[in-house]
Amino acid sequence: MAYDRSPWKGPLEPGTLALCACGESSDKPYCDGSHARLQTGKTPHVVRVSEAKTYAICMCGTSDNRPWCDGSHKRLPAAD
Ligand code: FES
Repeated sequence: MAYDRSPWKGPLEPGTLALCACGESSDKPYCDGSHARLQTGKTPHVVRVSEAKTYAICMCGTSDNRPWCDGSHKRLPAAD
């Protein structure tokens, strides 16, 4: 898995989005179909964004509120 240690933060516009849940997308935070190509067993988080604003999206895979960041990345063990 290619999860990151920090969230993706940026503006999202209203609409329906497919957000990467497997960590393998080359277009994070969006799903690019890599989950199927690599047979990760994951499927994207399909979300309806109703408000244009800045969002923090979990990229570490440990948030209890995925796809949204809940700060869990701060509790990850230190990288080697
Ligand atoms: S590429 Fe990661 S869920 Fe689709």
